[in-house]
Amino acid sequence: MYHEINHPFLTHKLTALRDINTSHKEFRELASEITMLICYEALKNIEVEDYEIKTPMTAMTGKRVKNDIVVVPILRAGVGMLDGILSLVPNARVGFLGIYRDHDTKLPVEYYSKLPENLINPLVFIIDPMLATGGSVVAAIDMLKKQGYGNIVLISIISAPEGIKVVEDAHPDVQIFTGSVDEYLDDNKYIIPGLGDAGDRLYGTK
Ligand code: PRP
Ligand code: URA
Repeated sequence: MYHEINHPFLTHKLTALRDINTSHKEFRELASEITMLICYEALKNIEVEDYEIKTPMTAMTGKRVKNDIVVVPILRAGVGMLDGILSLVPNARVGFLGIYRDHDTKLPVEYYSKLPENLINPLVFIIDPMLATGGSVVAAIDMLKKQGYGNIVLISIISAPEGIKVVEDAHPDVQIFTGSVDEYLDDNKYIIPGLGDAGDRLYGTK
C-alpha cells in the first residue's frame, strides 16, 4: 500500500527541490527537510508499548517505541536522506545497500551490503529519493528479506506510478510513503516531471 503525503509545506519544499536552478547545497538541505516531513507521517504507524515512569509529581504509564529501528539508505542517493531521518530517530541503527541502475538496461546492479545483525523483529526504513521503475527497491527488499528482515517501510521523495505498482506487486507487505506520485517514466526511465538524477544533484557529479 502507498501513501502520498499531502501537505502544502511539503509541496513548497518539493518544488524548490525539483527546480533546475537549486544549488547542490540547497538540494542537500531540502532533501533532508523533506525526508523529515515524510518520515514524521510514516512514524504515525509505529508500534508503542506501555512504559512506567515517575514525573516529579506522580507515577504514570507512558509509551515507548516497541521495536528496534533500522534505517537503510540505498547508495548513493539514499545517503542524502539519512540526516533527515536520524534527526527524528537518533537511536536508529543504520545498514547500507549498494545498488545502482545499469545505464543501458536500467536493471539494478547490487554491489554492497552491510546490515545490523542479531535484532529481534526490527522495523526497517529503506530510504531512496527516487522510485522510478522500482527495480532498485525490489532488489533492496529482496536482499533484506534474505537476511531475515520482515517489517519493512519504504520512504521515497518522488515516485513514478509504474514503480509503485512494481513494488506493490512484488512485496505487497511493504508500506510506501512518498512525497509525490509523479506522472510517468520517460523513454530513459526517468521520472517526469521529477527532479533529474538525484545522486548527481546531491553530490554535484554532473
Ligand atoms: C537512482 C535512485 C534509485 C534508482 C531508482 O539511483 O536513487 O536508487 O535510481 O531507479 P529504479 O526505480 O528504476 O531502480 P542510481 O541508479 O542513479 O544510483 P546512484 O544513487 O548511485 O546515483
Ligand atoms: N533515478 C533518478 O535519480 N531519477 C530518476 O528520475 C529516475 C531514476
